[in-house]
Parts: sequence; structure tokens; C-alpha cells
Amino acid sequence: MTSPHDDDPLGRPGGERAGSMPYEVIGVRRPIDTVVVVPGSKSITNRALLVAGLAEGESNLCGVLFADDTAAMMSSLETLGVGLDIDRDVCTARVTGIGGHPSVASANLNANQSGTTGRFLLPALAALPGRWNLDGDVQLRARPFDDQIAALEALGGRVESLDESGRLPMLVSGAGLPGGVVEVAGDVSSQFLSGLLMSGPLFSDGLALRVTTELVSRPYVDMTVAVMRMFGADVTEPIDGGSEWVVAGGGYTAADVTIEPDASAASYAFAAAAVTRGRVKVAGLSRDVLQGDIGFVEVLADMGATVIDDGSSITVDCTDEDAAALVGVDADMSQISDTAQTLAVVAATAEGATTVTGIGFVRQKETDRIGAVVTELQRLGVAATDDGDGFTVHPGEISPAVVQTYDDHRMAMSFALLGLVNEGVSIADPGCVAKTFPGYWSFLEGLGVSTSFILALDGPAGSGKSTVSRAVAEALGVAHFDTGAMYRAATWATLDRGLDPADSDAVASMVRDLSIEVAEKVTVDGVDVTRAIRTPEVTAVVSTVSAVPAVRRELVRLQRRFALGRPGCVVEGRDIGTVVFPDAPLKIYLTARVDVRATRRLAEMESKGLTGPDLATLDEITADIKRRDLADSNRADSPLRAAADAVVVDTSDRSVEDLVEEIASRTRRVWEE
Ligand code: DC
Repeated sequence: MTSPHDDDPLGRPGGERAGSMPYEVIGVRRPIDTVVVVPGSKSITNRALLVAGLAEGESNLCGVLFADDTAAMMSSLETLGVGLDIDRDVCTARVTGIGGHPSVASANLNANQSGTTGRFLLPALAALPGRWNLDGDVQLRARPFDDQIAALEALGGRVESLDESGRLPMLVSGAGLPGGVVEVAGDVSSQFLSGLLMSGPLFSDGLALRVTTELVSRPYVDMTVAVMRMFGADVTEPIDGGSEWVVAGGGYTAADVTIEPDASAASYAFAAAAVTRGRVKVAGLSRDVLQGDIGFVEVLADMGATVIDDGSSITVDCTDEDAAALVGVDADMSQISDTAQTLAVVAATAEGATTVTGIGFVRQKETDRIGAVVTELQRLGVAATDDGDGFTVHPGEISPAVVQTYDDHRMAMSFALLGLVNEGVSIADPGCVAKTFPGYWSFLEGLGVSTSFILALDGPAGSGKSTVSRAVAEALGVAHFDTGAMYRAATWATLDRGLDPADSDAVASMVRDLSIEVAEKVTVDGVDVTRAIRTPEVTAVVSTVSAVPAVRRELVRLQRRFALGRPGCVVEGRDIGTVVFPDAPLKIYLTARVDVRATRRLAEMESKGLTGPDLATLDEITADIKRRDLADSNRADSPLRAAADAVVVDTSDRSVEDLVEEIASRTRRVWEE
């Protein structure tokens, strides 16, 4: 399974996006067939965080999404005095709520780029005692808040736009308001209504909310109500086509809540199945989830995909003959607009035109999403038109291009899918995915990797893994990949550029922009370094460079890319079975006595023609091997060790032929299974 919890493989902390190089998507060459886990729902995470933060007592949230948008909510809540104890590894948050009483009388809060954080916080701030300055980044400052402001003013709150009317930054105050009846528009953003609903229990008399225009994205409002009820709120929904929601006062009570996987994020996995005419199962989802975006699978079904919901996972299967020609559809996406861009890319690969309607309001999302979709499809050579409240896509040949993303995570994540089946699709500003899915690029690469045919071969220097893995790959007729050569290449570049190997920031940023190729020859930015990476100078500092976490992240990403679309490969290194391909069906860990390993290294040097002062003594080699063993095994990130399920083989008293024979036949057996 592909895990969503990888760090951003580009090594950029969330939000640090400036200057990121375009990301070239690697094609998968065959239909995808995989099972994936996607991160927790952003929408539920930000609702649950807010409501738990406003509640009395301690709540435990599981399946929490950690991304830029939820970080904005978390830091704002902490500013108000909410206690947050988070564990990113297991995606949990223990939230100690303020029970309606902030620990400060005034504060500056920043929603950054997060629309939900801004629109959910504003009404709550108007209901809490204190004076609050709410701001956001440039993009959020351009997005409207007018209808929410008007509603809060009608309730007696004071909201003062400091810059342009109806826009952030704003000064908010209004504590002690009784609440009452208020009107709100439904056709600009359902976030207005959701934010007001969640503030309802903070008003002594509660709130009655009348929606005056047609409500877009109703499923998000239903989700809001469901989350509020989990925390004890009393909400009455409109009946028989009515438009009034009534929320009783009385605050929230703490609760333990499990957050569903993100259905919008899952749309990329489902669409990957569609564009490659493959099959993807997303764990933890069903048609019954709170998120309306799960409806995206029905649109794929209309196009000809088979959708299987087993109650605990959803599979989209496009492998049968009929689905091989997914057909274009007409879809009103007003209720699932966050997946409109995903549909646009699937439509580009279908038979016949697709027309999306009902989403005029998405022009006010992170960017004008209709304009962006049409422009970028055209850039790729696909005919597309802007129809005002939607767009039409006419499938066609896709030509190579760098897709512009307009600081919109969904532009990046959706358009990247076209690169799975077309050469030369690159995504500008790839770091923008951190808004909701920081591990997206690893996730995408994981979709195409079939780990069913990987032999992971790890071990320390001199254990025989290079000789053995090359020979095993040859015997099996598959590719061989020496990952140590990558770390050596990065080390060579560190020395070549005159960087201090101990300056991890400088080394990491240099490695990020490096082009390393490991094949017959090893090249760095096109320079042949096959011999240069084996010098004593490189060997002396390779352990230092390979201990830098950001270097490892970048190189592990390249290593996974290597396996993309290959029918099988033998990958050797130190952490292949534990970190790079933990799902590999066979892991071998070679080891040998230190004296044997040192003797092998000496023989290797002699065979390369090293003589005189260039030739180290056996004692020097032994000392060097021990030093590297120690460094490689004790580093914090991906230390050298055998995976729990690895087969450990001591090569001290074995011949190469014997080892190759044994490992090759073991691998054949496992792969055949
Ligand atoms: O296999 P080798 O001696 O060429 O590897 C050089 C160094 O690279 C080794 O000291 C540790 C590091 N390395 C690593 O950290 N992870 C890998 N997967 C491969 C090598």
C-alpha cells in the first residue's frame, strides 16, 4: 500500500513554495493496479479542530490531516488558548477546548491561504469575548467574506475590514451577543453558512440561519451539521425544501472522533485508475461517508468505470474492455466542485466531449478554476471552452508542456495525472500541493510502482552486495540499481561545489537541484562521475552527506521513480527493505565478518589498479569500514539495519556463484508466486 504520510518529497516545509522547480511526472507505461491510503479529510479535520477547540474538555481526533490548511487552523486555535497535543506519525490530535473562554483578550490570527480557516473562524471570533485581528495571505485577502460580515453585523457583531471592504484583514469583536435570526447567501461559498452554523452554539440564544440564494455544495453543510452533532450541538435542518437551519445555544462538549480519509484527495487516485485504464482501491472510504466529493465516483461510473463499494473501501476499475473507452459525460458538479478539475483531466482522455456545469462559483476559489482548467488544457493541446458556469473538454492528443498551477493545489494534483499516460507533462510550482496533501508527489509515484517485482538487497560495505546484486539482476534479466552510487554522486557534488559536508542545509538545497543518473554510467548534471565517486575523498564523507534527512528524502524519491514501470529490479543499498521499498516481496540482508569485508575491499582496490600511496593498508580499510558501519547504523534517519522480514545471509565463507544461485532462485520463486 502507498502511505500518505511521507514527508513532502521535495523537502519543502508547507508554505515554502517560492522558486520550486517544475515537477516532471513519470509515465507509468501500463495500467495502474494498486491499493492506496489517502490522508484524512481536510474539511472534517478543520471542522473537528474548531469545534473541539471551542468545546469544554478534552477531545481526541484520529485520522487528522496535517497540511498547510489545517496548520493554519491549529495555530489560530492555539493562539486562542486551545491545547493541542499532536502526533503526526499516527495522525492524531488531543484537543483541550477553551469552552468558550479564550485565554487572551486580543490576538492576531492568520488563516494564511486557508478559506475554511478564515470562514470558520470569523463567526466564532465574533461570538467569543475579545478583540481579534484576522488576516490571511495575499490569495485569501482576495477572496470574499462580505456575506458573512453582513450576517454578523446583523447579529450586533462588529467586523471592520482594515483594507478593502469585505476582505481580510479584519478587526472582529462582539462578545456577549444573544444570537437570533440571520440571512446568508448560499451561492458564493457554502463555507459562509458552515462557519455561521458552527458559531451557533456560542451564542446564548443560538442562531437561526436563512439561506437566501440557491445553496452550492450542500454536502459540505451536511458535513458541518454532522460534525457539530458529534460534539453535542443541537441542530435542526430545513425540511421539505425549506432553507432555515436552527442551532441551539449551549456550547459544545468534548468528543472522540475518527476523521474519514479525504474524498477529494481520493479523486486523484480514482482518476489515476481512469486515465491509465487501470484499477485503484482506496481504503477507508464508502459511499456513506460525510463527504459529498465521494460522488465523483458516480461521474466515473457514468463514463463507464466499474465502481465497487465494499463498505470499507471503494475501488474504481477501468480494466474491462468496455471501460477501455471511457466516454464523455455531461455533469452538473455544483455539489462536488472540488473534483471538477479532476474530471477535466479524465475527460481529456475519454471518447467524446465532457461538459461540466453548475460551478460558476469556483472562479472565486484559490484561483479562477474554470479559466485555469481551460487555459491549461489548451496549453497541453486539448480543445476546451469556458462556458461561464463550467467548461467543455474535447479529448485529443496531449503535447508536452509545463502546466501552470496558479498557486492552486488542485490544479497541480489533477493535471499531474495526465503525465501518467503522456510524455513531457511537468507541473509548475509543485510545492503548492502542501496546502492539503504534502506527500502528494510520493503518493503519485507510489501509484505506478509495482513493488511485486523488487528484490531489496541491503547490507554494509564489503558484505558482497554489489557483486551479488549485479549478478542476480543479470541472472534474472532485470535492471540493477546501486543506490549507494546516488549518495556517492551527491557527495561528489558536495565536494565539487566546495560545500562543507557538515552544512546540511547547503548540501540539501544543492542536492534538490541536482540531476543524478545511475545506469551503466553515473552522471551528475550530465558529467560522468562513474570513477570520481569511488575516490577515498568521497568515501570519507559519504556517511555525513547520506545522514542528512532532506538529502535522503530527495534521493529516496528518485529511487522510487527508478522502479516506476519496470517489470522487475534488484535494488541494493542500506535502507531498501526498511524505507525505500518496505513492501518488497523479498528482502535480503547480506553481512560478513569485518576482516573478510576489509580483505574484499583491498582486493577490489588492487583489481582497479591502485598501487603505492593510493592503496590503503588492510588496517586502514578495516578502520574505515568500522567507522562507516557505526555512522550508517547510528544515524537518526533510515539507519542501516535488516528489515524485520529480511532474510539475513552471512557471506563470509560463501562463494559468489553459490550466493547468486541461491538468491536468484529464491527471488524467482517469490516473484512467481
Ligand atoms: O554501498 P556504498 O558503499 O557505495 O554506499 C555509500 C554510502 O552511501 C554508504 O556509506 C551509506 C550510504 N547509503 C545509504 O545511506 N543508503 C543507501 N540506500 C545506500 C548507501
